[in-house]
Amino acid sequence: MHVVWYTAMSMDGRIADAANSLEFLNTIRSGEEGGGDDFATFLASIDAVVVGATTLRWLIDGGHGWPHDDLPTWLVSHDEDLVDRVGPTRRPFQRFAGDVGELFATIEAQGYKRVWLCGGGAVAGQTLAAGRIDEVVVTIAPTALGAGPNLFDAAALPQRLFTLADVGRAGSAVRLRWLRT
Ligand SMILES: NC(=O)c1ccc[n+]([C@@H]2O[C@H](COP(=O)([O-])OP(=O)(O)OC[C@H]3O[C@@H](n4cnc5c(N)ncnc54)[C@H](OP(=O)(O)O)[C@@H]3O)[C@@H](O)[C@H]2O)c1
Repeated sequence: MHVVWYTAMSMDGRIADAANSLEFLNTIRSGEEGGGDDFATFLASIDAVVVGATTLRWLIDGGHGWPHDDLPTWLVSHDEDLVDRVGPTRRPFQRFAGDVGELFATIEAQGYKRVWLCGGGAVAGQTLAAGRIDEVVVTIAPTALGAGPNLFDAAALPQRLFTLADVGRAGSAVRLRWLRT
């Protein structure tokens, strides 16, 4: 099973600002060399999703609900009421709390092949520490935030090595793709 952390961050490695706003993404200007609808192509390649509680709350509070309910989803959260806030979904939406290494082993045992780690940084940090991130695709916006959740938000991480697979322009942003070495 292949797990991809596909996201966007600021120049200083933040995936949101200190107020959990994604406003910084509006600094990205599209250009003629922009890679088209890369995200839609990526989503079409995914068969399951893992999302953290803070990321989901941000989506719900912003009125977006859970936009990927056509994919089986695991929510990483201690909050027993959060699943109810999502409402009905087309595919199973379930909550998990505990060691994320166990979560990815469970998903793999169910036969899923390509999992999108939708965020956020806290879940990504634990997933990296558990040695379960196979690929990182990150778009870097041309601005810095100074505070906010990090791409891998953890107090400390064991060394994990990646090999650079792609570097590209996405308008005024840079898109990097690393594969686990
Ligand atoms: N730039 C982007 O494209 C992008 C992508 C994704 C997210 N984001 C942003 O990133 C921010 C969220 O990131 P984040 O790092 O702060 O949070 P996160 O990873 O989404 O969620 C962290 C929360 O998940 C729960 N959790 C984490 N590990 C757990 C475990 N092992 N077991 C049970 N529950 C666990 C805890 O909440 P509970 O105790 O309440 O359950 C924890 O506070 C949001 O602002 C979001 O919009 C940006």
